[in-house]
Amino acid sequence: MYTGLQHLHSGIAYLALLSLIIVIVLMLVGALTGRAFTEKDRKIAMIAFIFAHVQLLVGLILYFVSPLGFSLLTSGEAMSDPAARLTALEHPLINIIAIIVISVGYIRAKKMTVSRSRFRSIYMMYAIGLLLILSRIPWANWL
Ligand code: HEM
Repeated sequence: MYTGLQHLHSGIAYLALLSLIIVIVLMLVGALTGRAFTEKDRKIAMIAFIFAHVQLLVGLILYFVSPLGFSLLTSGEAMSDPAARLTALEHPLINIIAIIVISVGYIRAKKMTVSRSRFRSIYMMYAIGLLLILSRIPWANWL
């Protein structure tokens, strides 16, 4: 189960990061060209939102199954070792914050009425979320 979850989390990471980048570029182009925000734009933004949430769910389960997650945090040794601190604390915490930021960007855009503001809400919040995620990826572990 652990290896399966590890592979799943690693695979969805590609999809989540790629979809975030694509959505940021598309929304930025939409805002710059001044075109109308359509239902298709909302659905495209929703794809990255969904991948981020599926990753959150898999990540939460993995956190309690992996020896690099909760068990390491409670072992008392995680704080003194940067690699352990990354997977046991920083990566989960910062990614949860990143997914909240992404959600705010998407949900706020749904409620807005001005096209440019809707594009901006998505590209700005998704870009902040993406930077937060990239800042705490355990690059050395990534399969
Ligand atoms: C969009 C959000 C996230 C992305 C892109 C992401 C990406 C990654 C990547 C690339 C790895 C290294 C995978 C590997 O070892 O091959 C990893 C590991 C890990 N992630 Fe995430 N993650 C995200 C969210 C989360 C969340 C929210 C949690 C927990 C609440 C979490 C828990 C973990 C744990 C415990 C590991 C270490 C797994 C192990 O190798 O035993 N992740 N993550």
